Amino acid sequence: MSQSHISLYQTHHPRRTMKMILIILFFSALLSSTSLASSPVFSDFCVADLACPITPSGYPCKPTANVTVNDFVFSLLPATILSPYSFGFTTAIVKDIPGLNGLGISAARADIAENGVIPMHTHPNANEILIILEGQVFAGFITPTAVYAKTLKPGDLIVFPQGQLHFILNTGKGRVTAFAAYSSQNPGLQLLNGLLFANNLPSPIVASATFLDIPQIIKLKARFGGSG
Ligand SMILES: *[C@@H]1O[C@H](CO)[C@@H](O)[C@H](O)[C@H]1NC(C)=O
Repeated sequence: MSQSHISLYQTHHPRRTMKMILIILFFSALLSSTSLASSPVFSDFCVADLACPITPSGYPCKPTANVTVNDFVFSLLPATILSPYSFGFTTAIVKDIPGLNGLGISAARADIAENGVIPMHTHPNANEILIILEGQVFAGFITPTAVYAKTLKPGDLIVFPQGQLHFILNTGKGRVTAFAAYSSQNPGLQLLNGLLFANNLPSPIVASATFLDIPQIIKLKARFGGSG
């Protein structure tokens, strides 16, 4: 037996004993953190338990035993084209694919009818890459100092930096199909028209806050489901 090992049991060497206890404490802490790291709580992914409410750090994990491949698979089929904008939008975000929980990525598909538009909007939580598969668009984003917009054709992509106000206009013949990727499992969506005209904020207040004419605001409120 080594000298230091023996010293553990020699109470007349208090300093050495203390050193050994500290070393043992260090190794047992290391061991317990290793066993924690290999437990399911700290696994490589955390598939969302969508039955639980979402928290600022995502959904709680569902038990590993309940995870299946379908938690990671989704079909981005075309959505129904809706008025008044004439586009359909299919999301593949965490509420649609529980496996995205905590991964910081998601996707979507947009189908825009001829003359349709995805109107001015922002994604507060995510950068976006939009890839045009079919048709022609005029798309871009607007900053306080510049407009970055261009005509895009199949195979082209455009980047919309996080939070920037952007739009996609179908300027070609026939339908546009585009796919989007986001740098968040929950990109968020704020439609400018919805914020301004889809609620009951009184029209005179909207007029004072935007400098738009009241009759125009009333018309837009009727179109986008607002009142007041
Ligand atoms: C996990 O699966 C079990 C057995 O099918 C089920 O009883 C339980 O509710 C599931 N839990 C979650 C969080 O999905």
